[in-house]
Amino acid sequence: MSLSTVPARRPRAVVLMAAGLGTRMKSHTIKVLHPVAGRPMIHYPVRLGLELGAERVVVVLGHQRERVEAYLRGAFPDAPLTFAVQAEPLGTAHAVSCAVPALEGFEGDVFILSGDVPNLGVDAVAPLAALEGAVRLLGMRPAEPAQYGRLVFDGDALTRIVEFKDATPAERALQAVNAGIYAVDSGFLFETLGRLGRNNAQGEYYLTDLVAHAHAAGRGARAIVLEGTAAEDLLGVNDRDELAMAEQRMQTALRRRWMRAGVSMVDPARVTLHDGVTLGADTVLEPDVALLGATRIGADCHLEQGVRLMDTDVADGAIIHAYSQAERTRIGPRCHVGPFARLREGTVLDANVRIGNFVETKKTHMGEGAKASHLSYVGDATVGAGANIGAGTITCNYDGVHKFQTHIGKGAFIGSDTQLVAPVRIGDGAYVGAGTTVTADVPDGALALTRAPRRTIEGWVERKRQARENAGNKPAG
Ligand code: UD1
Ligand code: MG
Repeated sequence: MSLSTVPARRPRAVVLMAAGLGTRMKSHTIKVLHPVAGRPMIHYPVRLGLELGAERVVVVLGHQRERVEAYLRGAFPDAPLTFAVQAEPLGTAHAVSCAVPALEGFEGDVFILSGDVPNLGVDAVAPLAALEGAVRLLGMRPAEPAQYGRLVFDGDALTRIVEFKDATPAERALQAVNAGIYAVDSGFLFETLGRLGRNNAQGEYYLTDLVAHAHAAGRGARAIVLEGTAAEDLLGVNDRDELAMAEQRMQTALRRRWMRAGVSMVDPARVTLHDGVTLGADTVLEPDVALLGATRIGADCHLEQGVRLMDTDVADGAIIHAYSQAERTRIGPRCHVGPFARLREGTVLDANVRIGNFVETKKTHMGEGAKASHLSYVGDATVGAGANIGAGTITCNYDGVHKFQTHIGKGAFIGSDTQLVAPVRIGDGAYVGAGTTVTADVPDGALALTRAPRRTIEGWVERKRQARENAGNKPAG
């Protein structure tokens, strides 16, 4: 069998239109940088382009292009991304023209996507490649066809698209509209873009005019018109209201995906998940849990109400009690944390650590089985395996200028209401008596305590009361 009998799939490239400012967002930040499920919305169409197998992804930018480019280069360091500039927004066809130099030598299907349609998935777009015709696009039948371009068909053939502002009342009554997502044959695209005019209601170069050209030239145009909830993923974001709706759709999709993977959610609508989060099977999320950034939760974990984790790893079998938060923290297997715990950046808990209520940690490593059960601040510290930190312990890590380290040895016992003035080392197995201020190292196995001498003054309370009476307390009032 010769290779030529297996038709190679046509090469793919992506042009991503993202030059508009998004005026209706009423924001200093360009629309495509507004976040959806924790990522700037332009992240999603770029990822989609890569999932489509595009050998080049050309992003057309205008406003705030340095910010968008810096974000995308950081997020997709190895991707075949190039950036084109559209200095003036003269319309969607003009935007694509700006990308043409970056597509030099490319032959195949050019997928044209928008930066503001974050919920669009590869399953909706990929079937365009299998359709006949030089121009193929996604349409939809929304409940409210609003200002979308109307699709005009002759049987299966798409003959033209008429923009809302140019449409007659009869055309405005058409229900199938253009979602603005296309696959176009590269040869047809390159030869036709230069022929499009701007003699229309908005004085813009309309990409949608490709359809009438393809039809007239006998090259063919086709549409896949999506209905129902599938069509909701085609909706773009133009204002804050639509941003919130896009967020909700993505939240629904993320929750479903993780529930299918074996995660229980007591009230899914009250769970917030970022796109970068992963969860293990048999983990339970109670209401108002927010898992943000690149948080990873293992299997068999239980996160009680109101837990908020950012960029945090939680190993299998850990329990996080209500209203605890953690940021850039690693929580080991079977740890118990909270309620009301605050684990700050650089906290690492080995297996079976217990962190109780009103405990704050920062840049602290707690060895296996170590405990800080109540009301403590443990910062810039290492705590040995099995050590116990009593209620009200404070590592005094800061002298107003510098931060210093505290080291607590394996199996050490720190009594309640202790101040550990860093830098300081508590030896393995050492004890510190309650109420001690430790300002120098404690050797292994030693007891350290500070005790101010106690005075007991017998009968003081009664004498004090009589003294007040003798001073002639006048009746009140
Ligand atoms: C466009 C379509 C319309 C379709 C709708 C779907 C045209 C002429 N019309 O209309 O049929 O129903 O999308 O959402 O294409 N952009 C640029 N540079 C420009 C103009 C636009 O980069 O000069 C970008 C925008 O940032 C946006 C996308 O292209 O990402 C679409 O532009 P927009 O102005 O929203 O087009 P619509 O008028 O909504
Ligand atoms: Mg639009």
